[in-house]
Amino acid sequence: MSERTQVGIVGAGPAGLVLGHLLHLQGIHSVILEHRDREYIEKRVRAGVLEQGTADLLLEMGVGERLEREGLVHHGVELRFDGVGHRIPFDELTGGKGITIYGQQEVVKDLIAARLETGRELLFEVEDVRPEDVDSDSPRLRFRRDGDEHELQCDFVAGCDGFHGVCRDCVPDGILTYRERVYPFGWLGILAEVEPSSDELIYCHHARGFALHSMRSPELTRLYLQCEPDEPLEDWPDERIWRELHARFESPGWSLKEGPIIEKGVTPLRSFVAEPMQHGRLFLAGDAVHIVPATGAKGLNLAVADVRVLAEGLSRWFSNRDDSVLKAYSGRCLGRVWHAQYFAWWMTQMLHRMPDDEDGFQAHLQRAQLNHVVSSRAAATALAENYVGVG
Ligand code: APR
Ligand code: PHB
Repeated sequence: MSERTQVGIVGAGPAGLVLGHLLHLQGIHSVILEHRDREYIEKRVRAGVLEQGTADLLLEMGVGERLEREGLVHHGVELRFDGVGHRIPFDELTGGKGITIYGQQEVVKDLIAARLETGRELLFEVEDVRPEDVDSDSPRLRFRRDGDEHELQCDFVAGCDGFHGVCRDCVPDGILTYRERVYPFGWLGILAEVEPSSDELIYCHHARGFALHSMRSPELTRLYLQCEPDEPLEDWPDERIWRELHARFESPGWSLKEGPIIEKGVTPLRSFVAEPMQHGRLFLAGDAVHIVPATGAKGLNLAVADVRVLAEGLSRWFSNRDDSVLKAYSGRCLGRVWHAQYFAWWMTQMLHRMPDDEDGFQAHLQRAQLNHVVSSRAAATALAENYVGVG
């Protein structure tokens, strides 16, 4: 096990794994420390929408072979309200762009396989990671593994350890500014062994609450229902889930196919940004510094966009001590992060049933907004270009 590395990476989610691979391609040494086991992170079901730029990067990095084979390329989504579907044609509105449906855990599996093939270190089940002296020229990561204490000397530390990680909290008080909105609802998500009921995603606004039809493959459907943020799963036997999905998606001539439910979970919706995304030689990326509500499907794409900038910055620094991109890292990423926050908030407030809307004011605004999006080419184009990813 190395005692020294150029970049110590905490977390083997999409951010940490993509960063490790980009650094490898530049000949830069890194060690990735992950506190879960491999099986856990490969099975963790998350979102599954890749922007074109994200899919292109994975292909360029040489980890996109299965993605290219199994990913489902979509050129539009449906917005459904009042029982009527309206297609937003991405390709027509954005000059041919689309998205690829490929589960995040599949991306993670491919990246882990690629990492192991490079022979570079990726340590699972690492405990009690402590970043130290990140504001000096020689930061360290202390951790425990198999009961033994270790110390890894680094030139830089990348905090890719997600929202509940430790890296953000090792920045001294008063340096980071936090901005957050917690929405008064969550999503109950299921994975069902049944062919998708539609070729494309359906974002459905309904008086009973929002619902989303998505998929993972021609045999696997992913569905979500708006619920309480702390909804107890015990209250949702399979029959109740299907009943509720049928009620929300109801549309003449369309029916939802049912199949065995193989996964169930509740995700709260929040918007969160900590800035700046850097302190000394600690660079934070992905969910460790920003969370977007799942409605716009931007989380994974933002994480990948961050580490793309970070890898470029580190590569310049290691090749000729040029720190210009590292210095600009936070500013460059935050522009994109706030744009995605805006879009995810916009989708979220348009589509969900708002609690405490006694006189229906919010519901009427939402109807007006939805009608505008599906009847104005300009408004539909705004949704389409944000969805496929700007820049
Ligand atoms: N030490 C080591 N590893 C840690 C620690 C810790 N203290 N805390 C968390 N981790 C690991 C987690 O187990 C996880 O594997 O860091 C990883 C962080 O990965 P993600 O949460 O997937 O975050 P990120 O790589 O930024 O990817 C963002 O994930 O949550 C989704 O929607 C989000 O798609 C987005 C993507
Ligand atoms: C998903 O397929 O998991 C998914 C799709 C679109 C979203 C969120 C999640 O907006």
